[in-house]
Amino acid sequence: MGGFDPGTWALRRLDPEVAHRLAILGLTHVPLPVPPADDPILRTTVAGLDLPNPIGLAAGLDKNAEALRGLSRLGFGFVECGSVTPRPQPGNPKPRLFRLAEDRAIINRMGFNNAGLEAFAARLAVRPANAVVGANLGANKDSEDKAADYVAGLKRLAGLADYFTINISSPNTPGLRALQGRDALDDLLGRVAEARAPGGGPVFLKIAPDLTAAEIAMIVDASLTNRIDGLIVSNTTLERPETLKSSWRSQAGGLSGAPLKTGAIVALKAAAEAAAGRLPLIAVGGIDSGAEAYARIRAGACAVQVYSALIYEGPGLVGRIKRDLAGRLRADGFPTLSDAISAGPLTSR
Ligand code: FNR
Repeated sequence: MGGFDPGTWALRRLDPEVAHRLAILGLTHVPLPVPPADDPILRTTVAGLDLPNPIGLAAGLDKNAEALRGLSRLGFGFVECGSVTPRPQPGNPKPRLFRLAEDRAIINRMGFNNAGLEAFAARLAVRPANAVVGANLGANKDSEDKAADYVAGLKRLAGLADYFTINISSPNTPGLRALQGRDALDDLLGRVAEARAPGGGPVFLKIAPDLTAAEIAMIVDASLTNRIDGLIVSNTTLERPETLKSSWRSQAGGLSGAPLKTGAIVALKAAAEAAAGRLPLIAVGGIDSGAEAYARIRAGACAVQVYSALIYEGPGLVGRIKRDLAGRLRADGFPTLSDAISAGPLTSR
């Protein structure tokens, strides 16, 4: 799959966290050329956001919004930074990031290591103007009122990000996923609705793949009631499919990459069925090709995000997905991306 990228090859031989740090430093300091303009067939609008293409960077790679200029030059239609928590925190003890190379997967239990809201806001204030940037909000590990942390993030970053993501699905902060239960969710989303600035950009909710269809339908309902603008489906999984080969497979944390594909698709389809066109969906989890991006779009997503495949394939992946997706849209006779979104599922899957 894909072409050989010497930079990616070298980074994959280093300790994963060292490689990650070097990649962020490279993206921050090495001047990258402006990417060519996107094929117009890929242009789309998601919850009022105008995107030059529907391929986004998922949260977690640039937790501190340090490398936005470099990342936007890789050709993404939108870049999500964070998760950021109100106060800086170190995250879990190392090692906490594992490459399951045989499985094209990653396990992480980073635990929201980040430099906090003030540093994040200062970086967003000097962000590149021509990129669509999202801020992914988290909660501090030791915070008792976790909903208050999301409200603090929304208020502090108002006017600085194009959209916000309420991340209640990271498996590495004890109690966080409990916010996906009905009472906690209604409380959280009610407070989010009150806190958001009018015209301040859409607010998305990012959910776990480890939910039943009934739980997802409940979340869709609570989101519609509380004016959430879309769902991001999904975060990493606590499941460990039997197919995993790597010796790291029993490490605690969230699994991402190729083995997450099936669970993320099941969750996306459940969300699409419950939403019935009333709530935009952004698909994430194991997306590694134009074919996979196209399949998620036909399954109900209006945009997609990638993370793990980028680690294995290198930055050339973004351009390959875009070219392949544009080709598939044309081959199937769709004049625009929106026509494919509303066309319904691929029958050959
Ligand atoms: C993540 N992800 C993540 N998500 C989030 O909302 N906030 C975060 O801080 C992080 N941090 C993070 C760190 C690392 C090392 C990884 C691999 C992932 C989850 C990520 O955004 C995405 O939802 C999943 O990784 C699934 O997509 P992929 O990786 O299979 O394309």
